[in-house]
Amino acid sequence: MEQQHIPVLVNEVISLLECGPHQVYVDATLGGGGHSLEILKRTHPDGRVIGMEWDEEAIAEAEEVLSPFDERMKIFRENFVRLPVLLKEMKIGSVDGILFDLGLSSIQLGEPKRGFSFRGEGPLDMRMDRRLETTAADLVNGLSVKELEETVREYGEERWAKRIAEAIAEERSQGPIETTEALRKVIYRTIPKRFQSRRIDPATRTFQALRIRVNRELENLKEALAGGWPLLRKGGRMCVISFHSLEDRIVKQTFRRLEKGEAGDPSPKAVMKVITRKPIVPSEEEQRDNPRSRSAKLRCAERV
Ligand SMILES: C[S@@+](CC[C@H](N)C(=O)[O-])C[C@H]1O[C@@H](n2cnc3c(N)ncnc32)[C@H](O)[C@@H]1O
Repeated sequence: MEQQHIPVLVNEVISLLECGPHQVYVDATLGGGGHSLEILKRTHPDGRVIGMEWDEEAIAEAEEVLSPFDERMKIFRENFVRLPVLLKEMKIGSVDGILFDLGLSSIQLGEPKRGFSFRGEGPLDMRMDRRLETTAADLVNGLSVKELEETVREYGEERWAKRIAEAIAEERSQGPIETTEALRKVIYRTIPKRFQSRRIDPATRTFQALRIRVNRELENLKEALAGGWPLLRKGGRMCVISFHSLEDRIVKQTFRRLEKGEAGDPSPKAVMKVITRKPIVPSEEEQRDNPRSRSAKLRCAERV
């Protein structure tokens, strides 16, 4: 079932990051190594890339893809919120660019045993990093009905959150919900048929919500953006590719705030300049060739 991950908006990222020789980049979400590979090619002969990734299976994949560039690439199994600490340990004061390509890779999504996909059957796991303590099954079987509803509404933007939470509670009173298929069935029979879209699977939003909460995705993103910009040299750039509106909103608002200066500062001055007034989205051709790219939005800001 394992699939190859096709990097999204790769040319746009390379051009925004102004890749060239002598540069040092951070790929904060290494995944299958697709973006790093391109950065390494474009920074020939001496550019360097520091890759961060918290999923050991993704790292194994990336190591293989990037093996020809061993000398210019360093890979760390880390949560990207630890970037400031990592650079400090490496005695690197600043870098030329940082890339975040958020969400899941096709490798993770295509592997049923990881529990990310409602297609196929797998355990309700959804941890990107297996060192995390809480799985999706822990949430589904352990949260109160109210907490479940709030999670599904807030992180899934699901209008049927209340009904889904109640249906989950009823189902689990018969025994724990342990598989992706069991959860999907509950959702299918809860959302009224006439409101089930043919374009988007009815389970999409609930699965998204659980995944975001299991991996603390929004908290990590906020912390990583706040900790990341001070690590850029002047003129260095940060690119963020997001895949849903909750993430994109955080990126947009953070960049705007940094452009206005730090809140609470008596004479605030800009620390970043927004390069992409509107997010860059994949061309029709890319969307056709790689359907996973359809919801991607790329934003970039530059350290001033
Ligand atoms: C969309 S994929 C990246 C794909 C990659 N750019 C490529 O072209 O192959 C996102 C990756 O980020 C990783 N990730 C998500 N949150 C992370 C975090 N907080 N720390 C480290 N890695 C994270 C995921 O495990 C996943 O492999």
